[in-house]
Amino acid sequence: MNSDHLQDYIQKNKERFLNELFELLRIPSISADPAFKKDVARAADYVAARLKDAGADNVVVEPTPGHPVVYGEKMIDPALPTVLVYGHYDVQPSVPDELWETPPFEPQIRDGNIYARGACDDKGQFYMHIKAFESMMQTTGMPCNVKFMIEGEEEVGSSNLGAYCKANKDKLACDVILISDTAMIANDQPSLDIGLRGLSYVQVEVTGPNIDLHSGTYGGAVGNPINVLCSMIASLHDENRHITIPGFYDDVVELSSEERAAMAKAPFDLESYRKHLDIKATYGEKGYTVIEQTGIRPTLDVNGMWGGYIGEGSKTVLPSKAYAKISMRLVPNQDSETITKLFQEHFERIAPDCVRVKVTPHHGGNPYVTPMDHPAYQAAAAAMRESFGKEPVPTRGGGSIPIVALFEEVLNAKTILMGFGLDTDAIHSPNEKYGLFNFYKGIETIPLFYKHYTS
Ligand code: BES
Ligand code: MN
Ligand code: MN
Repeated sequence: MNSDHLQDYIQKNKERFLNELFELLRIPSISADPAFKKDVARAADYVAARLKDAGADNVVVEPTPGHPVVYGEKMIDPALPTVLVYGHYDVQPSVPDELWETPPFEPQIRDGNIYARGACDDKGQFYMHIKAFESMMQTTGMPCNVKFMIEGEEEVGSSNLGAYCKANKDKLACDVILISDTAMIANDQPSLDIGLRGLSYVQVEVTGPNIDLHSGTYGGAVGNPINVLCSMIASLHDENRHITIPGFYDDVVELSSEERAAMAKAPFDLESYRKHLDIKATYGEKGYTVIEQTGIRPTLDVNGMWGGYIGEGSKTVLPSKAYAKISMRLVPNQDSETITKLFQEHFERIAPDCVRVKVTPHHGGNPYVTPMDHPAYQAAAAAMRESFGKEPVPTRGGGSIPIVALFEEVLNAKTILMGFGLDTDAIHSPNEKYGLFNFYKGIETIPLFYKHYTS
């Protein structure tokens, strides 16, 4: 084992690693839009081919009722521990495209950043694992077994991955799951995400009269479903931005004042947070800091809302229907199915008689917390300490990776979130980026994780 050779190998192959990532970024693998189904499949094939080149065995592109799962492995010795690396090669839609400075699927480097949809979430991040694996295979060798499972449906709720995991329990058997799909505090302040929020996602449809009506002839007497939907949604929060759905907070774990004090130690500057977002003030649940509001508290947000006339000019119409898509981010020990049911019952109950409402559940997932005393968490912390020269701070990120809670249920293994992104990387937004620093730092840090985990 010679770790100088390893670092040497990474340095010598830097350019190629980046070119390979660029090729992956050029494939518009948008899982949400059926028009891109072939591109999603092409991305899966590309990942499988690179996994094979890197030295993985038994590489397969496994079909599912949705998009395929890419699997590959390197079994060194069944007596050694096994790490399962998870990532996703699908991306969010790039719209609105006109807000991108350079096209979303033509990656470019500006100011030390790679700009492209998926640069950070999650192509740039899972690709680091394939290149770290290749570098170890070519120099030090792998100190333990590794399995790769890279899916194509994370951005649409991983609805077929649960069944895939259940059907392939033995093949996926592992001691721990390692994921790079989260953010750190800053490039000079490493951190490790120890929490993911869960998710309940629903669509609501509110129907008033059976057809669109003249808003002069009928307006005033007939309930307008858009007006009604707005007041119903407004009533879901009280003046303290507390959610009003009965039972919503019943299972929420309140943190002790010691735990909250520990969280408050993570560096955070409200002023630059506001500046970055160009907002005068934040608007969160009363009694909690911004870090708490996004990390340990549940939320309810409208993600989109439509109905009536939205074309050029004006049309005087009292619409028949109004719609909204609503997400609820959940925290331990809330359960996604329970919360969806509570929402549905409450929403139907508060609807006035002038409308009918229909609630359609979309997808969800349960919250997850990584135990900091887990040997693999300790290894990740040691790896970060060694490569950044600074102790990583544990944080509770606000996002969701719906499959993680299921991994624990089905594979009975904990997950370590060793992400190298930044909150300012604009994932899901126009001009998504990923730092070259972060890409290469990840490739250098991942082998250190294996070293510390196996020593
Ligand atoms: N990588 C993100 C999740 C994430 C982002 C975690 C930032 C922590 C910090 C993931 O790809 C994602 O976007 N998840 C979705 C899940 C949904 C589409 C089911 C999310 O959180 O909205
Ligand atoms: Mn992601
Ligand atoms: Mn995402």
